[in-house]
Amino acid sequence: MDRIPEPELMDEPEQARAYADADFEAVNAGFVADFQRRFPALADGRPLLLDLGCGPGDIPLRLARALPGARVEAVDGSGAMLALARRAVSGAPEESRITLVERTLQALEPRSEAIHAVVSNSLLHHLHHGPDLWEAIKRVAGPGAAVYVMDLRRPESRERAAEIVAEYAAGEPEQLRTDFHNSLLAAFTPEEVRTQLQAAGLDGLEVEAVSDRHLLVAGTL
Ligand SMILES: C[S@@+](CC[C@H](N)C(=O)[O-])C[C@H]1O[C@@H](n2cnc3c(N)ncnc32)[C@H](O)[C@@H]1O
Repeated sequence: MDRIPEPELMDEPEQARAYADADFEAVNAGFVADFQRRFPALADGRPLLLDLGCGPGDIPLRLARALPGARVEAVDGSGAMLALARRAVSGAPEESRITLVERTLQALEPRSEAIHAVVSNSLLHHLHHGPDLWEAIKRVAGPGAAVYVMDLRRPESRERAAEIVAEYAAGEPEQLRTDFHNSLLAAFTPEEVRTQLQAAGLDGLEVEAVSDRHLLVAGTL
């Protein structure tokens, strides 16, 4: 099945709200726990982490909580999502270590301060041009930076996508189920991501199919 891209930014307030209201507790906790397990050295010092496509801010908050020395820069191109993230972060004990940035990843510029890790969850499938993510990572992060990118992977057919939605989102609101279905159709396959990484000169990063609907790209630049 060919990929069917969806809009990049989730900038409709209702869509952002439905996403923020969904229960991603287990998924997001697992994301942070596995990231910590793979990159234990980030527990030391004051590392700077970048979360691309941070959405409503739950992952940046969890990262800052799990790594008490870390600073987290959380980037999203959607004003509606960042408004929700601002609300989530506001007043949290970790607030001073989290910076929210409204910017698309295509507009991210190189910087002088070293970035120790780039993470991203569920962003890649939104991109019309997947390589934009790898180019952004190369622009902002240098050798030695950890990379941890989790995303959906495209099933072999629309029917299989519908089965996955039925299996994992049965009780969710219609908006979320529709978004999930569209996201599965928009996702890349592990093979496509390997090709993107090779073209970007990032083939040192490993691509793994980590569940029936997810892929993980992880490694060190
Ligand atoms: C499915 S949400 C995931 C949010 C968050 N990472 C999480 O796991 O809860 C994808 C997010 O990526 C953002 N996004 C999509 N394309 C983007 C781009 N080109 N630059 C920056 N953010 C983008 C969307 O606005 C949305 O907030």
